[in-house]
Amino acid sequence: MQYENERYIKWVEDSAAYIRRTLGGFQPELAIVLGSGLGGLADRLQNPIPVEYADIPGFPRSTVAGHAGRFVAGYIGKKPVICMQGRFHYYEGYDLRTVTLPVRVLHALGVDSIILTNAAGGVNLSFVPGDLMVIDDHINLTGQSPLIGPNLEGWGQRFTDLSTAYDKEYRALAHQKAAELGFSLQSGVYTWMTGPTYETPAEIRMVRTLGGDAVGMSTVPEAMVARHMGMRVLGISCITNMAAGILDQPLSHEEVSETAGKVTEKFTALIEAVAQAI
Ligand code: HPA
Repeated sequence: MQYENERYIKWVEDSAAYIRRTLGGFQPELAIVLGSGLGGLADRLQNPIPVEYADIPGFPRSTVAGHAGRFVAGYIGKKPVICMQGRFHYYEGYDLRTVTLPVRVLHALGVDSIILTNAAGGVNLSFVPGDLMVIDDHINLTGQSPLIGPNLEGWGQRFTDLSTAYDKEYRALAHQKAAELGFSLQSGVYTWMTGPTYETPAEIRMVRTLGGDAVGMSTVPEAMVARHMGMRVLGISCITNMAAGILDQPLSHEEVSETAGKVTEKFTALIEAVAQAI
């Protein structure tokens, strides 16, 4: 198992070394993980430097429609950032150490703050598709954790505190910037399910009873690993649809991508304003 840790650390460090070489002297300060249909922000960076996942030796590939597979480094105003256009999900068959490899790599690159975005189903009945939700907290309904296994001692402690997994100041900043832009944000609890099926109506009633406001298939493992390493995390969900059973209509990935596309402008404005203030 110790050997496994050594191999994993080498995987992270080799990936980071390749990216560092490609970036030249560019030093990102903030990472932004772009969820389903939300990748357009990366195309607006100034002086962009793309790094395709496929070009990074040994790096996993993105397999989901609507997810490109690259890092794009560049500037939002004066802020040097690195975006992920496309992430890895547990439902793709990757183990959770692979799913969270990019977060480890970003930390190795010297990034200490991360914005995690996603498309999510609305569980809270006061939400409507197109709403943006600040993640205040999460519920992990998968029974899985990327931190199971021998602790990666050099990177963080055995027992990670999640009492403020999502940074209080960053959450307040998101609300403030949205208000300055003339809209408001929802806030709530994101519930992680493995997918790849959408949930059943009974599961969604359960999630609501448990205190979940939104449901999705990503973000939580990345947040856990970021907190393991002491990174500051902001989570933003785009409510792309009402979760199963709320409306009398089936759910589809097309609906998710279409709603995400419609809120691109609002989403982009928010993330750009927040990024510059972080
Ligand atoms: N459930 C799970 N994941 C999702 C959903 C949903 O309704 N919408 C977007 N991602």
